[in-house]
Amino acid sequence: MLLASALLAAITSVLFRVQASALPSPSFATQLIFQAPDSLFLENIAVRATSELLITSVMSPTLHSLNPSIINGTFTPVHTFANATGLTGIAEYQPGVFAIVASVLNTTESRSVLGTVAIWSVNLNAAVPAVHKICDLPSLTGTNGITILPSQINTLLAADSAAGAVWQIDALTGATRIVIQDPTMGPGAPAPALGINGLHVRDRFLYFTNSGLGRFSRVPLTVERGAVKAAGGVQTLTPAGSANGSDDFALDAFGRAWVTMHPSSLKLLSQNANGSWSQVNVPGTVNGTGSVFVQPTSAAFGRGSSLQNTILYVTTGVGQVFRVDTRG
Ligand SMILES: *[C@@H]1O[C@H](CO)[C@@H](O)[C@H](O)[C@H]1NC(C)=O
Ligand SMILES: *[C@@H]1O[C@H](CO)[C@@H](O)[C@H](O)[C@H]1NC(C)=O
Ligand SMILES: *[C@@H]1O[C@H](CO)[C@@H](O)[C@H](O)[C@H]1NC(C)=O
Ligand SMILES: *[C@@H]1O[C@H](CO)[C@@H](O)[C@H](O)[C@H]1NC(C)=O
Ligand SMILES: *[C@@H]1O[C@H](CO)[C@@H](O)[C@H](O)[C@H]1NC(C)=O
Ligand SMILES: *[C@@H]1O[C@H](CO)[C@@H](O)[C@H](O)[C@H]1NC(C)=O
Repeated sequence: MLLASALLAAITSVLFRVQASALPSPSFATQLIFQAPDSLFLENIAVRATSELLITSVMSPTLHSLNPSIINGTFTPVHTFANATGLTGIAEYQPGVFAIVASVLNTTESRSVLGTVAIWSVNLNAAVPAVHKICDLPSLTGTNGITILPSQINTLLAADSAAGAVWQIDALTGATRIVIQDPTMGPGAPAPALGINGLHVRDRFLYFTNSGLGRFSRVPLTVERGAVKAAGGVQTLTPAGSANGSDDFALDAFGRAWVTMHPSSLKLLSQNANGSWSQVNVPGTVNGTGSVFVQPTSAAFGRGSSLQNTILYVTTGVGQVFRVDTRG
């Protein structure tokens, strides 16, 4: 059942413009910890409570895991999805249970073939992963990031980069509906341009990148009888074009966003006391090896210890996994 949002034509309010930043770029020790065989394009990352990384690729239907405490460790296959050539978003919706977006991807167009997009559940709590399909999304071609709504269990939010929309998915029933479709989420150009890409919820806001329009934005959300809805207009936090090529990102304990940027940077966005947002590039240090990011695609914080909580893991389009110490 599709319920187009009442905010379909929501007016974008450009509330908090980024100020031209004169801040010095802080340095963060950055280390290359893994290089996938054949420079496999790594797309997205989730971190298990055990500290292990789960990594998807748009060029492979196999979900892999990696122990990030071992340099040049082993890329271990977890599950290979049927009827798919690639995987995009991944999010943990119950402890040890992950939702994963799989489809037949046309990487030339950066689109999924119509009728092939499915959301799968992978339960890693048993020795052998228990896998089942949550739902098909037969009208989507712009499958991308997926995240959870922390305030409502089993609620997934998935980005459609082609149509410029966010979908709500009930991970238990497989019911799907459009939460919001808005020009600020669209690609602004034909394929292979991408609109909304990474998305994450913090407090009452859904934060998202738009790769094609080059913006980082947020929209307030509310829940009415289980249905997630926009509670206001989209707020664009960066000037149009300043985040061209932005991909997925991670929000830290201070509410800052660590945004992966094509072709080769990581940006740290933070809100100033007066409400405006600043952005700086995040270089590595002289000690850090591999501090140049090549097509970074996603970032996620470690788990399992207070040190891990400050470590950012970054995947790239040439198969790299970096470890960034965000303590500076
Ligand atoms: C890891 O592998 C890279 C090549 O991919 C190599 O340059 C580096 O020295 C290795 N590091 C360790 C600690 O083995
Ligand atoms: C893959 O697709 C085929 C053909 O539509 C179908 O019969 C099969 O059940 C699918 N496999 C899975 C695991 O969904
Ligand atoms: C992928 O898209 C390109 C460009 O539209 C098209 O030429 C090609 O046939 C498509 N490939 C597949 C496998 O659909
Ligand atoms: C961002 O992309 C737009 C559209 O391609 C372009 O006009 C603009 O110059 C780019 N901005 C930056 C900062 O690269
Ligand atoms: C808001 O704060 C930032 C950082 O201190 C500053 O650069 C900017 O000029 C301020 N903006 C306004 C409108 O006061
Ligand atoms: C970085 O290099 C400096 C100078 O060689 C050294 O003193 C420092 O301990 C190194 N830091 C790390 C985190 O390796």
